[in-house]
Amino acid sequence: MMKDFSRSPDCVFYVCCGSKCKKSGGKHLYKQMKGEVKHRHLKRHIQVIKTGCTDRCKMGPIVAVMPKNKWYLQVNEEMTSALLDEYSRNK
Ligand code: FES
Repeated sequence: MMKDFSRSPDCVFYVCCGSKCKKSGGKHLYKQMKGEVKHRHLKRHIQVIKTGCTDRCKMGPIVAVMPKNKWYLQVNEEMTSALLDEYSRNK
């Protein structure tokens, strides 16, 4: 079955995987978030996208949640679960 690209998710998690954030765990967080969204069957509501540098390298890893325009700094594994809890509650 073809994916419906016209459907927008409720929110998008942009996970910085620029070189500095990657070194401080950004890529790992991205994979973890993707996996957890799939595991929790949230793919229709939350999309996880990796980005290049968001110009906040000293505070990485960075996760920006749109359209709320909320920026999370120094994100770690525990925070990703809490963020998914928070944003999946409003689905
Ligand atoms: S590499 Fe992530 S903010 Fe620069």
